[in-house]
Amino acid sequence: MTHVFTIAIDGPAGAGKGTLARRLADHYRLNLLDTGLTYRAVAYALIQHALPLDNVSAAETAARQVNLAKLDRAVLSAHAVGEAASKVAVYPTVRRILVEKQRDFAKTPPGAVLDGRDIGTVVCPDADIKLYVTASAEVRAQRRLAEIESIGGTADFTEILADIGRRDERDMGRANSPLKPAADAHLLDTSEMAIEAAFLAAMAIIDDVLAKRDKA
Ligand code: C5P
Repeated sequence: MTHVFTIAIDGPAGAGKGTLARRLADHYRLNLLDTGLTYRAVAYALIQHALPLDNVSAAETAARQVNLAKLDRAVLSAHAVGEAASKVAVYPTVRRILVEKQRDFAKTPPGAVLDGRDIGTVVCPDADIKLYVTASAEVRAQRRLAEIESIGGTADFTEILADIGRRDERDMGRANSPLKPAADAHLLDTSEMAIEAAFLAAMAIIDDVLAKRDKA
């Protein structure tokens, strides 16, 4: 890979894009950015300061202070932070500030895998590869439940499913950068696919693009 290489991965919450992004970044030796963490960091800062999530100027200040090298997944992965993140993510100015940081990250050699909601459509519209990863809401809720139970927690399937429905609605329905597949994205439905199979399918798509490029 002689130029800065970009793999854009988008999709709804719980579709498996995070794990897939990590596997691909390892395999192709690229940097990795989970852009969801940047929105979560903004929401977390507001929560920490007991500020309402619709305080746009505080959200902008928090967005400017986001340091991509200091995103603490352990703190930011809490379910409530994800919910709050989808509320601050509707503000165009907050998005503009974070998108600029994400683009700078993508430009750093040797390139990166970025996952989120608007990577192929807005952040990196010229990405070498665009993947749109989905799964049915039921499968995503089931995975989330298994994840919670695997660390000794308990949760109610119906509640998780309702949560996922609300988050999808907010992410797909917002006016600014709604979640949708880029016109040139490869669709990967992981409803009936284990992560290993999804990884192999993604690799086949990427290797095909790389082989064609080498020949050109
Ligand atoms: O992917 P994750 O669940 O961490 O994202 C949290 C929220 O951040 C999403 O529900 C979405 O509203 C927002 N987000 C976004 N654009 C991105 C990544 C995340 O709007 N590129």
